[in-house]
Amino acid sequence: MADIHLNAISKRFGDVEVIPNLSLTMPDGKFTVLLGPSGCGKSTLLRIIAGLETPSSGEVRVGDRLVNDVPPSERGCALVFQNYALYPHKTVRQNLSFPLRMAKVAPAEQSARVDEIAAVLELTALLDRFPRQLSGGQRQRVAMGRAMIRRPEVFLYDEPLSNLDLELRVRLRLEIARTQRALKSTAVYVTHDQTEAMTLADQIVVLRKGRIEQVGAPLELYRRPANLFVAGFIGTPRINLFSVDSSEPVGEGTRLTIGKLSLWVPRHFQTPVQTVGFRPEQVRQGVAGPGQVGIELYDCETQAMEHLGDRAFCYLRSSLGDLVVLAPDADSHLSGRLSLAVNVDALHFFDSREMAIY
Ligand SMILES: Nc1ncnc2c1ncn2[C@@H]1O[C@H](COP(=O)(O)OP(=O)(O)O)[C@@H](O)[C@H]1O
Ligand SMILES: [Mg+2]
Repeated sequence: MADIHLNAISKRFGDVEVIPNLSLTMPDGKFTVLLGPSGCGKSTLLRIIAGLETPSSGEVRVGDRLVNDVPPSERGCALVFQNYALYPHKTVRQNLSFPLRMAKVAPAEQSARVDEIAAVLELTALLDRFPRQLSGGQRQRVAMGRAMIRRPEVFLYDEPLSNLDLELRVRLRLEIARTQRALKSTAVYVTHDQTEAMTLADQIVVLRKGRIEQVGAPLELYRRPANLFVAGFIGTPRINLFSVDSSEPVGEGTRLTIGKLSLWVPRHFQTPVQTVGFRPEQVRQGVAGPGQVGIELYDCETQAMEHLGDRAFCYLRSSLGDLVVLAPDADSHLSGRLSLAVNVDALHFFDSREMAIY
């Protein structure tokens, strides 16, 4: 078993506490993504797990083993970085077998393991090439192979794809997901890219300033964000959020006032609603039907269109402020008066402490 447990971890650099008090379990055989903006402490946490950084307090456990005092090389973790470095004067085969040579594995076994890893990563045809003869993606696969070849229980990835172009990033993302499923190892993957997190993770941990904002499966975070920060961080284009001026019970529901817009929602709230939100892809044009809320906009102007092939998003300026909505078709520039309908279930409500109200 290679669950990873962080118990009450804190980390300070001099006077600055970058991780206040963090506890987290990364389950065995699962893919955990640490997601958050730059500087929130993702790499620091990963380096604490790897043993490259010492926590100021708290425990790190891999399986049943307390590893605080175990050196990095004996933790059973393989680390894959953004700036992968291969030995330029060694072939792919020699690069891959190097960790095994260092570990004094018998030559026949080395060769068998290289062939096996090369097959998994589709590097077989490239084994006799030198790094300069490889594309960026191929080099990254060799770097991954070199990390994998010692059969670590745990893979730690620190933004391994962020230097690559989009197409390659998408391909290697699939590669990493596939490898993970094949090896059933425990993976911890650091990124600031929510799309990467959504596609790779079994479990996403959203971090902000060294604190956990929410832990959950990708769709859980998307559907039921715990707070404004998570709602804003997950989902592209970004969720539309509006400040509520007043919120009062009317009949079987609540009337929310946002500027000149008045919204009646068939719900009662325990705490006053401060912010209301809806995701761009969940807005339809037209009159609201049953179970929907109608939003009337005036003076709409299309600022920009975003074409994604199968659909397009329209960035609008309107009487309600700026918002993004799904465009009815690829070349429709919305303007003037607009009626939008959103399912009541697709509305998100937040209180004055920025916590979601469910
Ligand atoms: N060795 C260090 N000395 C001082 N401050 C550091 C050191 N490493 C990281 N930090 C600070 O800790 C915070 C978290 O950094 P990091 O874990 O690299 O964030 P992330 O990977 O999420 O971008 C940042 O404010 C960073 O400046
Ligand atoms: Mg980092």
